[in-house]
Amino acid sequence: MCGIVGFTGINRASDILINGLQSLEYRGYDSAGIALVQDDKTQVIKTTGKVEDLRNKVAATADTYGTCGIGHTRWATHGGVTEVNAHPHQTPKVTLVHNGIIENYKEIAAELAKKGYTPVSETDTEIAALLIDSLYNGDPFEAMKKADEILEGAYGFCIMFQDRPGKIYCMRNASPLVVAHTPIGSYIGSDVIALIPYSKDYFVVPEQHIVVLEKGSVSLYTMDHEKVEPKMLHVDWDTTAAKKGGYDYFMQKEIYDQPEAVKNTLAPRIHDGKVDFSADKISDDLFKDVNRVIITACGTAMHSGLVGRSIIESLIRIPVTVEIASEFRYMNPIMDEHTLVIVITQSGETADSLAALRLANERGAKTISIVNVKGSSIARESDYVLYTHAGPEIAVASTKAFTVQCCGMYLITLKLAEVMGILSDKEISEYIDKFIAATETIPAVLEMDDYIKTIAEKIKDTYSAFYIGRGLDYAFACEGSLKLKEISYVNSEAFNAGELKHGTISLVTEGVPIIAVATQDHIFSKTLANVEEVKARGAHVILITDEDAAGYEGLYDDLIKVPKTDDFFGGFGTTVAMQLLAYHTTVYRGYNVDQPRNLAKSVTVE
Ligand code: M6R
Repeated sequence: MCGIVGFTGINRASDILINGLQSLEYRGYDSAGIALVQDDKTQVIKTTGKVEDLRNKVAATADTYGTCGIGHTRWATHGGVTEVNAHPHQTPKVTLVHNGIIENYKEIAAELAKKGYTPVSETDTEIAALLIDSLYNGDPFEAMKKADEILEGAYGFCIMFQDRPGKIYCMRNASPLVVAHTPIGSYIGSDVIALIPYSKDYFVVPEQHIVVLEKGSVSLYTMDHEKVEPKMLHVDWDTTAAKKGGYDYFMQKEIYDQPEAVKNTLAPRIHDGKVDFSADKISDDLFKDVNRVIITACGTAMHSGLVGRSIIESLIRIPVTVEIASEFRYMNPIMDEHTLVIVITQSGETADSLAALRLANERGAKTISIVNVKGSSIARESDYVLYTHAGPEIAVASTKAFTVQCCGMYLITLKLAEVMGILSDKEISEYIDKFIAATETIPAVLEMDDYIKTIAEKIKDTYSAFYIGRGLDYAFACEGSLKLKEISYVNSEAFNAGELKHGTISLVTEGVPIIAVATQDHIFSKTLANVEEVKARGAHVILITDEDAAGYEGLYDDLIKVPKTDDFFGGFGTTVAMQLLAYHTTVYRGYNVDQPRNLAKSVTVE
């Protein structure tokens, strides 16, 4: 939520800041702003709308030559989308940008009001700016430390003190910040994507730390002003991975990235017919004496957890629950040292998932996370991390990250089967062959793109849609439905196929699209019986299956026949088909596929 950037160096800051914000726009896109320092003068330029609007406004502004500055792209939390609420926020002594939420801002505002401080915006961020202003007596470290003791919530701040031109002070509690330094200057951003045009080497600012950016150096400190060495990381993808590469939208590109993403995720972990986590330093001990698994995540990542539940329960025969991370903490969940908690997340920064992980750690459960972003908070705080190698995912709607999260779930399940002695070496090797074969069907589904587009055209004007499936198919149907709903604004829901008739079927009328997912041989006819029920009510049925649908012609209006795979690995093809259906439906409806309204890619507030 919200993207922040900062630069101080020898080049003009405005271009660097705006380009950085543009690459972070997936984090928030309702308003944007920058502050530039030239000599001892600070100039703030902000606007509602997209970063492109800010770029135009800056281009039309005189004297934007400063070589030090900070910037922000906003996803509104406190206060509406107005220019005054946009960042940076400025007080006489400080100018700052903020990513996160200050939970106790009302109490702080009340205290500040007694001292005569009056905010002009409705934001929690301006209260933080006023607080730091009130605490500043010439020592930035002292002011930031005191502010940190008062502020509750999540924050990453980039702060410019009026009497310290050329320096940017940053502090972090929860909201991510990454830093790079080159001979041109020092850079900071919410995500490495903003830094990658300048450097592939960077470090993640640890929580409760302060960074000082100067033209010739970056320095990392504890809150007590003790200097510490940053732990450097290296980005293993290049700038082209974060560009559209000729596709119309990032989502489209990311759908097409999937064969590569899957290969990159599986190849380092499959050796000699076995799952090998040695390079990930994941010990087999993690999988010993596990009598229960809890998977916790949000949104799409939670759907890959539903896949995980289905496959672990059917193969390993231990109970698995999937908990929505935002609920987990408030349910007083039952966990002990025999519970394996799996946290799944693309960004590694989702506030609710991080809180769920912290609770699991506190209660002594074994924890492993499946994470895409290197060095992210969840990766760092789990006992073990299994990185997915999807590369950067920029579209708000998750596609390739989901597919590789499912791969992660399959890898963990097969490892559990090995360590717990459920399958012999030979059986594991056979499962792995089927697994790889299933993922290798993805390119064939991508080739059905034009055909799926013709189906999208038929449903483009619908108000609602339903996705149905049983068992493993239901897990994938949930993700298919979320994809359609979040970007096309079609009111879409997923149901266990047999459940519709217990209420929801009353919403099925002439022409309502029902996307039926049916890859599981043993329940194929059962799902088709449910399809029959909705067809009888006039639904427009789109059947997605890898089974032989001969004899069922009267039951569907459109058939998406994906290549046959083993049932246990049945969702890869159907997933890609549903992603393409959602994508094309949205393009037909004329919406911005990559930046759906009200959403942000990385949800760092609870
Ligand atoms: O970064 P995370 O995987 O933790 O994000 C969790 C959800 O916010 C995310 O999966 C969201 O549901 C997707 N962007 C939807 O496509």
